[in-house]
Order: sequence, then structure tokens, then C-alpha cells
Amino acid sequence: MRKPLIAANWKMYKTPAEAAAFVQAFDLLVAHHHHADIVLFPSASSLAAVVGTPRSKHIQIGGQDMHWLNEGAYTGATSPLMLKAIGCTHVLIGHSERRQYFNETDTTVNLKLKSALAHDLIPIVCIGEHLNERESDLTAKVLELQVAVALEGIDPTTAHSMIFAYEPVWAIGTGRTATPATAEQAHKLIRGQIAASLTPAIAASTRILYGGSVRPENAATLCCLEDIDGALVGGASLDPNSFAEIIIQSKG
Ligand code: PGA
Repeated sequence: MRKPLIAANWKMYKTPAEAAAFVQAFDLLVAHHHHADIVLFPSASSLAAVVGTPRSKHIQIGGQDMHWLNEGAYTGATSPLMLKAIGCTHVLIGHSERRQYFNETDTTVNLKLKSALAHDLIPIVCIGEHLNERESDLTAKVLELQVAVALEGIDPTTAHSMIFAYEPVWAIGTGRTATPATAEQAHKLIRGQIAASLTPAIAASTRILYGGSVRPENAATLCCLEDIDGALVGGASLDPNSFAEIIIQSKG
């Protein structure tokens, strides 16, 4: 019922020419693998190049962040209208690097989520605990709070497209991954909080991706379990062969 989604977060890597070259190579590798939806998240300056490169229909494009307002005096920011106009269908919201380096909070995540849903952009809301929180047994509390605040005031009837990504901060870019059992447990908890905040039906249909050091070697065991509906991939998504192999491995 929940189609897997595998997403590439390129962060601050790739010029427009490099991004376009990736799409050309990658498209050939995954053109016949339709078991998963695929979304590429280039940096804002490469969006036009990626959108303008011919590719299979199941490869969609999203922004790594956006402001919640349509326009205004916010130097450096990109609005939902701009993402839509350039051809984006998705947007990442609240990635831990945005939280850590750019003052993103659960409250701004909530504003951005409402804005994305209002503009028909498919949001991927990123949440996850820090290592010290996990070691202090606070994981459940942290995740429940992040989900609850993100969903405050969201009308369930508008939330069908919404996606979450569970990315334990200690697993991002570190080579450490959650075990499948640890990830499953977190995903169940997140689904439970979505049910409590919105409705059980929305919780059951919401895709929850795992992120944090996903690679071709661990994709088969981490990407698609009972409550894990795909992956958000950073480092291993920068190379077309490696990212295509993750797509192929996610078939199970
Ligand atoms: P990583 O990044 O795969 O390099 O750990 C994941 C992410 O930041 O989304």
C-alpha cells in the first residue's frame, strides 16, 4: 500500500553541469526499476539543470529547503512558489543540518510543512535524535515532540502526500547506521505519534523513510521493512552507480 521512495540529498555538492551529468548516467541505470519512487534533491543552484535534463517519469525533483512565505525580503531564501515554478514536486523540511547550522526549529518546520501542503509540494519532514539524547533514553520523547510540533494545526484532510524521514543525527555522514530493529522501533513510534496528532488512517498511509549512512551494502536490510518505506541518502547518492545500486537493492 505504501510505495517505497528512495531520495538523494546532494547537500552542497555538484555544480549544474555535474548535476546534469549525474541525471544522464543515473537515468540509464534505473529506467527499468519502477518498484520505488525516486526523488533527487540538488542544491538550489542546480535545480534548473536537473529539471531540464531528460529523465524517466519516476525520477522527481525537490528543493532541499524553502521559506514558508510566497515572497518577501529574505535574502538567500527560496519560496514555495519558486520551487513550483522551476518544476519541483517535493521539498525537504527540517533536515538536521538545517536545524544545526541554520536555526531551523520545530516551529519553523511546522510553518514550512503547512506552506508545502498548501502549495501542493510533497514535504519530507526530517526528524531524529542526537547521540546524547539516545544515550539518555530520550529518543522516544524527542521524536514524539518533533512530530507533534511539526503537525500542530495541520488539517488531516490535507496531509495525504506528507512523508517523514527518520534520520538519527549520530548516523548522518558517520558510517554508523541504526540497526534495522532500532530503526523499526523508531518508525513505529513516529507512526504512532502521527496517528495521535492526525488520524490512524493518515498514519497508516504516510511513508516514513530511514536516513543515515545508507549504502548499497546495507540498503536491502534498512530501506524497506514493515514500517520503513524507503531511504533518504546523502553521501552514497552522489555517485550514479552507487545510488542506482541502492535503488536496486531496495527491491529486497
Ligand atoms: P548520509 O546523509 O547518507 O551521508 O548519512 C543522509 C542525510 O543527511 O540525509
